[in-house]
Amino acid sequence: MRNDAQDKFRQINRMVEIFAPLIQALDAKNPRILDMGAGKGYLDFALYDYLSGLGQACEIIGVEMRPQLVADGNEHARASGFSGLRFEPGTILDFDARGADAVIALHACDTATDDAIYQGIQAGAGLIAVAPCCHKQIRRQMEAGRPDANLDFLLRHGTFLEKQAEMVTDGLRALLLEANGYRTKVFEFVSDAHTPKNNLIVAQKGGAGSRQAALDRIVAVKAMFGIEKHYLETLLAP
Ligand SMILES: C[S@@+](CC[C@H](N)C(=O)[O-])C[C@H]1O[C@@H](n2cnc3c(N)ncnc32)[C@H](O)[C@@H]1O
Repeated sequence: MRNDAQDKFRQINRMVEIFAPLIQALDAKNPRILDMGAGKGYLDFALYDYLSGLGQACEIIGVEMRPQLVADGNEHARASGFSGLRFEPGTILDFDARGADAVIALHACDTATDDAIYQGIQAGAGLIAVAPCCHKQIRRQMEAGRPDANLDFLLRHGTFLEKQAEMVTDGLRALLLEANGYRTKVFEFVSDAHTPKNNLIVAQKGGAGSRQAALDRIVAVKAMFGIEKHYLETLLAP
C-alpha cells in the first residue's frame, strides 16, 4: 500500500467492516450488490474478497461512467479470479437496478449520491448505504432562498453555510429514506483525519416510522432553510 493511499485504505477497510454484517443479514443467499460510481473499484475488490473469505456468495456490480475504469476493473477482476465481480459502463440513473439487494456508493459526486439512493429505493433494496461527497445542490438553494432570519448568525459565514448545507442535505436524505420505508442512521465511519467526507448514511428496509411524519418534517426543514426542492425529492416524485 502506497503511503499516499493509506487514508483510502483505512476508509475501504472500515466500509468492509460495516457492510459485511449488514450484507450477511440481508434476506438473500447470493445478494446482488450495486456500487454506484465505483471509480477504480477498490471497495468492490475488498468487499468481494472479504465476503468470499467468509463463505458468503455475492454478486457485486460496479457502475461507473468512465469506460477506461470499467475496462481496467473487469480485467483486474478476471485476473483475480473474482467471477462474481464485474463493472458496467454508464450512468447511475440509466442502470437497470432491478433485483438489487444492496446499493452502496462511496463519494459519488454531489447529486450522484441521490441517484444511487433513488435507484436503491426503486429497486426495493434491503440495504442502501452511501458516503456522500460534495453538497452543492442544497447549498445553492440555501443561498438563493430565504432561510429563517434567526439562522442568519450562522449562514452569513461561508464556512458555516458550507457545513450547514452538508448536514441539511444529508438530514433530508435520511428523512426521504424514512418516508420511503427505510430506518436510517447517519454516523462518521472514519475519523475526519482520513477524509473530511466521513459521514455514512445507512438505510435498512423496514421498521421506519410514519411516512407522513417524515414528509411533514421535510416540509418544515425546507421552509426553515429556504430550500425549494431537494434533488432526491425530484427523482422520487417528479
Ligand atoms: C470520487 S470518485 C469515487 C470512486 C469510488 N467510489 C471510491 O470511493 O474510490 C466518484 C466516481 O463516481 C463516478 N461518477 C460520478 N457520477 C456518476 C454517475 N452519475 N454515473 C456513474 N458514475 C458516476 C466518477 O466517474 C468517479 O469515478
